[in-house]
Amino acid sequence: MVKVVVCGAAGGIGQPLSLLLKQSEHITHLALYDVVNAPGVAADLSHINTRSTVTGYGKEAIDEALVGAHTVVIPAGVPRKPGMTRDDLFKINAGIIRDLSEGIARNCPTAFVLVISNPVNSTVPIVAEVLKKHGAFDPRRVFGISTLDVVRSSRFVYELDNSINPKNTRVTVIGGHSGITIVPVLSQIPGQKFTKDQLDLLTHRIQYGGDEVVKAKDGAGSATLSMAFAGARFTQAILGATVAGKTGLVESTYVNLHADEEGTAAFRAKTQLEYFAQDVEFGREGVSKIRPLPELSAYEQTLLEAAVPELKVNITKGTSFITDAPKI
Ligand SMILES: NC(=O)c1ccc[n+]([C@@H]2O[C@H](COP(=O)([O-])OP(=O)(O)OC[C@H]3O[C@@H](n4cnc5c(N)ncnc54)[C@H](O)[C@@H]3O)[C@@H](O)[C@H]2O)c1
Repeated sequence: MVKVVVCGAAGGIGQPLSLLLKQSEHITHLALYDVVNAPGVAADLSHINTRSTVTGYGKEAIDEALVGAHTVVIPAGVPRKPGMTRDDLFKINAGIIRDLSEGIARNCPTAFVLVISNPVNSTVPIVAEVLKKHGAFDPRRVFGISTLDVVRSSRFVYELDNSINPKNTRVTVIGGHSGITIVPVLSQIPGQKFTKDQLDLLTHRIQYGGDEVVKAKDGAGSATLSMAFAGARFTQAILGATVAGKTGLVESTYVNLHADEEGTAAFRAKTQLEYFAQDVEFGREGVSKIRPLPELSAYEQTLLEAAVPELKVNITKGTSFITDAPKI
């Protein structure tokens, strides 16, 4: 039995993500949870002729939705409107993520938790702190999905060089998942050389690609379809490693660096960071190895230096939302 729960399943990301996950052969039970309309989305998807069972749960049924989950994917929350940064979302989404994490601790404490809700740099530490409170935190099992930055990177590089296949061009994106914390490592793409102007253009588009969509949607939300694609790709990689035992699966993702104590010791000592996006190798237990930092060009080194202090602020904001909360 492989139960995958989507929290926020009736939303702009949640619906197409659930549609894509309905096609996964690894999933036997797809449980859709949302404060509105989840039973309707579930009824609709349940007619698709793949093997998984689909069930929907409303607000009062959070425990039933989460119980026994193998993996929980979280796109619940509010998206950005024009003029908002991902960090502006914090006040609303932090509380939603805290409550969902409490539900996970109660009902499926060993589940793999895949966080989409922004600001990811802060929401992932919130999940970790809630699970820690319940003695249920395993850093190998909690992930911030930054795959959209990776997907955008290879697409935008392809727009400059049509001779590559963007599907097979893997770009490592390190740091975090908002603005200047996003550091695409373009220098390591085999066979590619960029001018300074091209690097400026690509880097800005990758760091602020979300803004293009927010602006174009003009008040109707942020990236949903490309995010669902990225979220499904990431979930499939986790399921491939943890359910099917596939080896060699690697994605850039935002994780707690204690998932690989030995491998990240030097980096943690140097930067004082507890969370970072980097290429991660997956295994049966989630993170099997966090790869060392790739070789960075001088350009990328400068980007990284700008990202680290911002990341620290974002991480502390998430962590202290739980650790400094008044005790009731
Ligand atoms: N990681 C990324 O790259 C990335 C990309 C785009 C958007 N996002 C983020 O994903 C989130 C969702 O975006 P969207 O466009 O789907 O928004 P949306 O408003 O269309 O959908 C959000 C859904 O969450 C539900 N929800 C709200 N509170 C809930 C709760 N307590 N429990 C369960 N469900 C709840 C809402 O009812 C709604 O259906 C936002 O935080 C957005 O910023 C992340």
